[in-house]
Amino acid sequence: MPGAHTPRTVLVTGASSGIGHELARHLAVDEHTTVVPHARTPQEGQDAVDRLVKDGAEPLRLRTVAADFSKLSDVAAMARRVTAEFPCLDALVNNAAVAGARSRILTIDGHEMTPQVNYLAPYLLTRRLWPALSASLTGRASWPPPCSAGTPPAARPSPTRSAR
Ligand SMILES: NC(=O)c1ccc[n+]([C@@H]2O[C@H](COP(=O)([O-])OP(=O)(O)OC[C@H]3O[C@@H](n4cnc5c(N)ncnc54)[C@H](OP(=O)(O)O)[C@@H]3O)[C@@H](O)[C@H]2O)c1
Repeated sequence: MPGAHTPRTVLVTGASSGIGHELARHLAVDEHTTVVPHARTPQEGQDAVDRLVKDGAEPLRLRTVAADFSKLSDVAAMARRVTAEFPCLDALVNNAAVAGARSRILTIDGHEMTPQVNYLAPYLLTRRLWPALSASLTGRASWPPPCSAGTPPAARPSPTRSAR
């Protein structure tokens, strides 16, 4: 992770409630941190953002993403969106999870629900975001920079964000 005053971008999965939301709230207090709260649906994500803003977070440093972890295609699509918007990602907090199901439920992908949501989906997300996570470690020393982590998306000059 970069130093205390270096802009950084942190994605927190399962930030619609519980520990994930509380973590997002704590991170959003830092003016150098862009927080990407993940939720199961766009509406839940917007609700989470609204609560964070109500608690004092700067809206320009919040960028919600959504994916239902019971659909791996959703997870892959979310990883593509995150990578496109944040070529450098400083941290991924794999927090989203379900408690063990009482009955055997299969996902659309043919896996049992609990291991898919708690293991397969975070694994896929981590693998797909690995280039962005790695870029945040190496990209800061390169020129032109692959991204400017932590800069509010609305304020970023997109033409300068060239791939390395
Ligand atoms: N609370 C504890 O005592 C405790 C103890 C040990 C470990 N943990 C771990 O800490 C983490 C958070 O726990 P918590 O108590 O804060 O849980 P929580 O309040 O139930 O929050 C879980 C989060 O994961 C999301 N999620 C669940 N299924 C999902 C799916 N299919 N797709 C996308 N998102 C999904 C939930 O979204 P929805 O609101 O849409 O369901 C919610 O945002 C979990 O990894 C848990 O295993 C918690």
